[in-house]
Amino acid sequence: MTFYGKVFKTHILGRPIIVSTDPDVNKVVLQNQGNVFIPSYPKSVIELLGESSILQINGGLQKRLHAIIGGFLRSPQFKARITKDIENSVKLALSSWIDRKNTHHPIIYLQDETKKITFQILVRVLMSVEPGEDMEFLKREFMEVIKGLICLPIKLPGFRMYKSLQWISNFEILQAKERMLKMVRKIVDDRKMAMEKKETKDSGSPNDAIDVLLRDTGESDGTQQRLPLDFISGNIIEMMIPGEDSVPMIMTLAVKYLSDNPVALSCLMEENDELKKRKDESGEGYAWTDYVSLPFTQGVISETLRMANIINAIWRKALEDVEIKGYLIPKGWCVLASLTSVHMDEENYENPDEFDPWRWEVTGSSLSSHNLEVLIPVRSKTGASVNSNKFTPFGGGQRLCPGVSWLCGWVDGCGVGEI
Ligand code: HEM
Repeated sequence: MTFYGKVFKTHILGRPIIVSTDPDVNKVVLQNQGNVFIPSYPKSVIELLGESSILQINGGLQKRLHAIIGGFLRSPQFKARITKDIENSVKLALSSWIDRKNTHHPIIYLQDETKKITFQILVRVLMSVEPGEDMEFLKREFMEVIKGLICLPIKLPGFRMYKSLQWISNFEILQAKERMLKMVRKIVDDRKMAMEKKETKDSGSPNDAIDVLLRDTGESDGTQQRLPLDFISGNIIEMMIPGEDSVPMIMTLAVKYLSDNPVALSCLMEENDELKKRKDESGEGYAWTDYVSLPFTQGVISETLRMANIINAIWRKALEDVEIKGYLIPKGWCVLASLTSVHMDEENYENPDEFDPWRWEVTGSSLSSHNLEVLIPVRSKTGASVNSNKFTPFGGGQRLCPGVSWLCGWVDGCGVGEI
């Protein structure tokens, strides 16, 4: 960066690309989704996800799907239901760890354990599948599918993508996806049939993402058409990715950062213990919004998201020549808006390699202890500081992650403090 500047040309995965590490340039790229920039993820990702993946589609259909999913995840009914689910799953996991202490296998592999918790919760949210045979089947197949996503497309024996690219001789990954599609499609078909049988099909709150997608009549985009069933099934599978990948990873890293920082850990525990005491005294159960009353915990989550950078960049292609801050992005060129570089740039964050949850303290208009006024986040009620273009773990613009509104509650609710 020192040598080439904040925006430069290079080659990634064999294709020429413009990399932006400049928050202002990234902002323009993300805000101009659809009219000037469209998604342009690597071929390997699109081959595995399919052309009708929400990450790939554009225009009215993307807006419609985004609005349906975002609206559902933000709804108070959904949050009330999921809070209990999260609490139960975490309690179950924690007690199984205690039991394991006295066995021959006392070691807990945190990432595997968090995957179990988050995958189950997400699958229940998406399609109301309960733990059991079907859940195990989905997990097994999904682990196979996701292997093809998290790899480099290098065509050499031994590389995972070699496996993924050898469709003809080696169908493992595609076959796993086909088997999953078949199962999810059956659930979607059954649900549709059940809905059609009922006269009052659109009444009552939707139970899961399949319900909301099936109920949508296409009024918002003027098509007046229901979403195709294959399209719903494919996108439901795609939305399982965060349950197996991003959320468990962020939880695991939060625990790692906290283990390396005993002072932060004790502040976090103190804050969470106080909440528990308040709940015990009042006899109230946990509510979704509880995490909003935990400023230090929110700082831990933001700091983990900043450093962990689960989605490290966003891929776009320019539909026309665009000039941003004096940089020309020619028509047809791919732009990689790097989120990691912005989060780890010392111009934006003092001592960026240091895990410092205190840097997120909201101190009104005064300077923080780190003298970084620009970084003091303007928190929304959801606790996510999405207003700064120097903090964008969830992307931005029209494609801002619809999971943003419940992730902080999830990570907190999933007991990072307890773990
Ligand atoms: C730590 C966890 C997560 C991170 C860091 C994350 C990050 C992101 C980012 C950066 C994008 C933007 C991609 C782009 O602009 O091309 C995105 C999109 C998306 N995320 Fe998340 N995400 C997370 C969890 C979730 C969860 C739990 C869900 C809920 C099911 C979710 C659903 C989606 C969907 C559907 C999109 C596509 C939105 C669209 O293109 O309209 N994500 N996510």
